[in-house]
Amino acid sequence: MINIQTNYAGLTLRNPIIISSSGLTNNAEQNKKLEDAGAGAIVLKSLFEEQIKLQSNVLQQNSDYPEAIDYIYNYVKANQINSYLELIQKTKELCTIPIIASINCYKSDAWIDFANQIAAAGADALELNVFFLETDLTYDYQQTQDFYIKLIRKVKETVSIPVMVKISKMAGNIPALVQTLTINGADGVVLFNRFYQPDIDIHSLKVTASNVFSQPADISDTLRWTAIVSGKVQGASIASSTGIHEWEDVIKCLLAGADAVQLCSTIYKHGHEIISQILTCLEEWMSQKKYQSIDEFKGKLSYTHVADPSLYERAQFMKYYSNRK
Ligand SMILES: Cc1cc2nc3c(=O)[nH]c(=O)nc-3n(C[C@H](O)[C@H](O)[C@H](O)COP(=O)(O)O)c2cc1C
Repeated sequence: MINIQTNYAGLTLRNPIIISSSGLTNNAEQNKKLEDAGAGAIVLKSLFEEQIKLQSNVLQQNSDYPEAIDYIYNYVKANQINSYLELIQKTKELCTIPIIASINCYKSDAWIDFANQIAAAGADALELNVFFLETDLTYDYQQTQDFYIKLIRKVKETVSIPVMVKISKMAGNIPALVQTLTINGADGVVLFNRFYQPDIDIHSLKVTASNVFSQPADISDTLRWTAIVSGKVQGASIASSTGIHEWEDVIKCLLAGADAVQLCSTIYKHGHEIISQILTCLEEWMSQKKYQSIDEFKGKLSYTHVADPSLYERAQFMKYYSNRK
């Protein structure tokens, strides 16, 4: 009997497919449909502190009373947090799979405040959606490291549910960052978030938004870093994310060392049916390979388990191009 259960960041999942934080997971009834379609866990759409600020700024502009600024901000904040807590509670009422809340903040006290309320509302875990795009020429990278350490320590002191950190592939030295996060209490990491991608329109001479969805080719970096991090960082629990579109991609991430995968663009493109198709193909592949459980092949091709780890590194790239005529 094939068992596709997996353990990720202290959670037991019936299978390794997690639905990523997005518009897909913004509604309790919709989340129930994702569970019925086969999802192993769901990450709710992020609660963004910045969005609260933006919305209250709009309301403040329409107010004639400067003294109302704090009042409006606190009103919008309470309103948005309450809707988010309701989303958690309703989703938990309808679903039995683990429900992971997600937050994105910019002030340190907001991370703690939101985390506290989310844990109290009954979320099974919390994903910290962290994004820095440092462009200041005088910026000291140590500040970023210190920010992550302080953040994960404080959140872990505040809540007892598992806490994962979703990072960007532009976050600097990825293995070192994951090691720092793991040592300081992160139960898991998500490799990677994918943000707004800029483009340039050569006709209008304007900067525009490029595709909001990932492409299958985006999986390459996800595989590279999943393999390197799982091979090098002891105790890191990884959910691979970005560019995972087909059933083969899920197996590749598990072979690279992921405990689970997160899917977003492929569900937007193909609908919920893709979840059961992937699970059926995963089981068929395991049966052909005579694997009974995911643990039997997870990490088989991680950085430490491949004969030539340089295949995951730049050295191979140079060899490839110097051999091309
Ligand atoms: C429409 C849309 C909304 C998203 N909203 C969020 C969000 O609220 N929080 C978050 O952490 N990631 C968000 N993401 C990023 C996804 O969770 C995911 O990390 C990214 O799309 C890469 O995965 P994929 O290649 O499977 O699409 C969003 C992505 C899309 C396409």
